[in-house]
Amino acid sequence: MKITTKGLNLERIKADAYLLACFEDKKLLEESFNFLETNTGKPVDGLIKDDFKGKNSQLKSFYHAGRRFILTGLGKRKLCTLEILRCSTARAMKAADSNGNKSVALFLYDGELIDYSFEEIITGQVEASLLSLYKFNKYIHNKKDTPKDQINEIIFLTSQAKKRNVEKHINTAVIIAESNINARDLGNEPSNIATPQYVAGVINSYGKKYGFNVKTFDKKALVKMKMGCLLAVAQGSANEPRMVVMTYNGGKKGQKPYAIVGKGVTFDTGGISIKPSQGMESMKMDMNGAAAVIGTMNAVARLKLKVNLIGIVGLTENMPGGSAYKPGDIITSYDGKTVEVLNTDAEGRLVLADCVSYATEFKPKCIIDLATLTGAALIALGHTSTALISNNDELSEKLIKAGNDTFERLWRLPDWDDYDRLIDSEVADVANIGQGRLAGTITGALFIKRFVKDYPWAHLDIAGTGMSPKAGDYVPKFSTGVGVRLLTRMFKDSQ
Ligand code: BES
Ligand code: ZN
Ligand code: ZN
Repeated sequence: MKITTKGLNLERIKADAYLLACFEDKKLLEESFNFLETNTGKPVDGLIKDDFKGKNSQLKSFYHAGRRFILTGLGKRKLCTLEILRCSTARAMKAADSNGNKSVALFLYDGELIDYSFEEIITGQVEASLLSLYKFNKYIHNKKDTPKDQINEIIFLTSQAKKRNVEKHINTAVIIAESNINARDLGNEPSNIATPQYVAGVINSYGKKYGFNVKTFDKKALVKMKMGCLLAVAQGSANEPRMVVMTYNGGKKGQKPYAIVGKGVTFDTGGISIKPSQGMESMKMDMNGAAAVIGTMNAVARLKLKVNLIGIVGLTENMPGGSAYKPGDIITSYDGKTVEVLNTDAEGRLVLADCVSYATEFKPKCIIDLATLTGAALIALGHTSTALISNNDELSEKLIKAGNDTFERLWRLPDWDDYDRLIDSEVADVANIGQGRLAGTITGALFIKRFVKDYPWAHLDIAGTGMSPKAGDYVPKFSTGVGVRLLTRMFKDSQ
């Protein structure tokens, strides 16, 4: 994708489509039409003015003065949020894309919006532009019948072209969007390709390209380290597990690192507690937590944020097989606890237990784990919000704020001891599931909590938000890359 920034003089710009977001307010809408008329030297057809009122969700595509314009409505300015601006930008982009336009010029809204900074307004539109065009179509040979990747050039137009750091904001947004897309691509890659070994290889090349350190632990190393929980999940698979540790030091020397830990189950069959076959293909995305960690490392390193950051992903398949772990097995975690496996489908928490234990060795400022952990998160919150469980109010507030700012929203559930008791085992230190189906998202989280010592910790259950059953305006169907924009925002805010 070729991306450039230019001023508003249309004479100097050549594009297949020109996109402009307009408010519904009478005066502002008039100003938009006036702007088009002065810029093209021609009056806009009265019928177009009759049709297009700038309502939120309204789109109007037309030829005017030899160019194609696409107007997209923002609704009333007073009610316009950053998310409305993102979605309306995305809709215009998609419309241009399905028209078959190759190059588009987008008039960035560079005025004010209540509650949002100039940087947010610019980055919001740029992120939404790129994210809306995402397609996972690399395996389709005959792309004629599919929405192909048609737009290959975006020209961002702004009255502030050389002022107010506009280009810097655009670059930042491009990096964040591309990192989100890195995560989507990993999540969508099928599990016959995206094995633990493959994902570790991808991380290695990102580390080299974007400037962070990568250390990979293979099965032999994991056996030596006694990562008993991760190994138990992996033992039914022909593809061996990996743990990958990424290190980025952009902060001061000696400054405590943040640790982000991701569940990277490249395919979850459920193991011996096998899942129903209906919909099982979506379990190729059971590594969305790891994908979010990898995408965030990419973004933070490329943006050269002044933070120290450790990313850890536990990569394995969860397969039934002659050597698979079984219900009733008692396994020993990396930190020495015995774990009674009551359900082999509750594997994510086992993978994370060892990985977060390992994270504590870096004496981090906090540990944030991300996982497609429980179907119960989907039942409770749908695809709209990520479940947050944490032992720390300050960390929770920071995450919730970043969630609201990026619209990757979080909803906090309690981490009370009452729930913790549900995972006591009669025969081991802890059981890997609670009793019955009660509070499944919380008991899953509290299992992980038993391994974080006293570090400030937050668990993000992205089972609902990491995978989307249908496309939104800038969030695609299937793997969404959720977590990358959220975490990058939090780290950006806490430099
Ligand atoms: N990967 C699944 C959770 C999941 C389900 C994610 C649906 C996305 C969509 C996880 O490993 C799992 O199977 N969890 C079990 C836990 C249960 C056995 C306590 C679940 O949610 O049913
Ligand atoms: Zn499972
Ligand atoms: Zn799983």
